[in-house]
Amino acid sequence: MVADNLTSRKGRLYGIGVGPGDPELLTLKAARLIREAAVIVVPKKTAHDRSYAYSIVRDLVDLDRQDLLELVFPMKKDLDALAPYWREAVEAIALRLEAGKDCVFLTEGDPLFYGTFIYLLRVMKQRYPEIEIDVVPGVSSMNASAARATMPLASADERLAVLPATYELSDLMQVIQEFDVVVLLKVSNVMDSVIDLLEELDIIDKAVYVKKCSAADEEIVRDVRTLRGKRLDYLSLLIVRK
Ligand SMILES: C[S@@+](CC[C@H](N)C(=O)[O-])C[C@H]1O[C@@H](n2cnc3c(N)ncnc32)[C@H](O)[C@@H]1O
Repeated sequence: MVADNLTSRKGRLYGIGVGPGDPELLTLKAARLIREAAVIVVPKKTAHDRSYAYSIVRDLVDLDRQDLLELVFPMKKDLDALAPYWREAVEAIALRLEAGKDCVFLTEGDPLFYGTFIYLLRVMKQRYPEIEIDVVPGVSSMNASAARATMPLASADERLAVLPATYELSDLMQVIQEFDVVVLLKVSNVMDSVIDLLEELDIIDKAVYVKKCSAADEEIVRDVRTLRGKRLDYLSLLIVRK
């Protein structure tokens, strides 16, 4: 009976936030679960890409003892086009969970803050509702960037808005007018238009740009005008505090 229970034990899936770059910003729980897991699941944008999340925790992983499952999720806005990738990923993970292996899915920052894990969670719950899933929060890029730039995100009755770069500039103008602090994620491709807008609103001096916060090649730019026309890293954001 005991043996039956042991052999039928399914693995547990963990969505793990590994923080923004500095391995010291990993939680103790995340570090323990990564060390203990049988399978390390690593999302990548292309087959040849190197995973930023994996690079943060590489020293905790022992590939002689643990399996690495690399899954490709291309950067597409069209969620329908991504559906087959999610289904394939869920099947690959489920196979290992059914074999009793615990799997940790690595997400840079926090898993439930614009993280890849959100889509996986949805499909996994639909297809395998019996699978046990735990989410371990991580330090988000927004919190870490505010810390590195020593720029408070919100205090007392201030209102904070967070927007990904999918916003229209007219929406952005409205949000900036309505909120005290605005965090713009995925800003790298739209920086020039954002600079134009901040200049028009005369708040360009209230913005700070943070690239790869807490990592060795972090950059903090307080005169964001100097970023005009530059090719910027995807892992960068802007905090505007009026
Ligand atoms: C898909 S979202 C992922 C957010 C992530 N889950 C988090 O908790 O921070 C990607 C965007 O987050 C921001 N980002 C992620 N990591 C960052 C870092 N280390 N430094 C600055 N911005 C970062 C950038 O704006 C990037 O375009």
